[in-house]
Amino acid sequence: DKGNHRHFMEKEIYEQPEVIAHALGHYVNFIENRVVPISDAIDFGKVPSLAISACGTAYLAGLIGKYWFERYARLPVEIDVASEFRYREIPLSPQSAALFISQSGETADTLASLRYCKEHGLKIGAVVNARESTIARESDAVFPILAGPEIGVASTKAFTCQLAVLAALAVGAGKARGTISGEEEQPLVKSLAEMPRIMGQVLNSIQPKIESLSRELSKCHDVLYLGRGTSFPLAMEGALKLKEISYIHAEGYAAGELKHGPIALIDENMPVIVIAPHDRFFDKTVSNMQEVAARGGRIILITDEKGAAASKLDTMHTIVLPAVDEIIAPMIFSLPLQLLAYHTAVFMGTDVDQPRNLAKSVTVE
Ligand code: AGP
Repeated sequence: DKGNHRHFMEKEIYEQPEVIAHALGHYVNFIENRVVPISDAIDFGKVPSLAISACGTAYLAGLIGKYWFERYARLPVEIDVASEFRYREIPLSPQSAALFISQSGETADTLASLRYCKEHGLKIGAVVNARESTIARESDAVFPILAGPEIGVASTKAFTCQLAVLAALAVGAGKARGTISGEEEQPLVKSLAEMPRIMGQVLNSIQPKIESLSRELSKCHDVLYLGRGTSFPLAMEGALKLKEISYIHAEGYAAGELKHGPIALIDENMPVIVIAPHDRFFDKTVSNMQEVAARGGRIILITDEKGAAASKLDTMHTIVLPAVDEIIAPMIFSLPLQLLAYHTAVFMGTDVDQPRNLAKSVTVE
């Protein structure tokens, strides 16, 4: 049931601190701040590369996971949306492993990509919410996200639980490959362990600002989301959330790509939502924002305290989140994106939990 929430989606957004803590408990030792041994079916210490395939929001979680596996485990990752992956005839080494991310575990394209990799001898891992699903059953290793039933068609808690599991797997892979030392592991795991508390803090503080901003967004026809590093797939996820429940056209772009085309779109009618934690990309993203402002674009900056202090830009709105370690920034910064999409859709009067034309699990091509 929805409890005291208007929609399942709202309930599931607010469940995230609790379900993330539950999911992490399966993968990390909170006392020692260590990841627990992940799977004997896939030896991340030995695989030469990793393939990742999924659809929609699950694909965007995988794209963020790619950055982590490459950065923390030095593991090359080949990733694509499953509807392309299944037909590309990618030359894959049978020594490699493949991860398939799916909330439902029944998505047809993702299952077809899994079977392609299985035919080529790869070890198969499934990052799933439905542990009895077809994708889970056909995998060598199952990595449950333990998010509980997700009823809203727009994925929220499953997305952040997928990220939490992928982050733990990437750190575990780094340990297995010797690219992360014990000293480096502990602060990373400590950051993961702090995530539920920080998520609760954010969810209890940003709602009023988000609601007033959503009222303005609900009058727009196009919205552009920008980000760099793991904030780039997050920009695409923010755009997907908005378009699938409010029906407003939105797209997520790598901030560095602005000059290669999208800057032609900039005018006062299209808000630009910039996802910019104060990380190593911040200054470059600020210069992208200056390009937008110089062309009359209206900027909604989502940053942290350090970013808000450093940015001298005149923005339409600035949403300030706690400064967090890079490895948990995608989970924390997804919260305002989820709430922006949710409240905008509420103002639009759309069917938030069952948006038009969409199904919770796409079991056909
Ligand atoms: C996400 O908000 C959408 N509902 C959709 O993109 C979804 O992520 C995609 O269809 C994949 O579903 P799965 O995770 O069940 O495989």
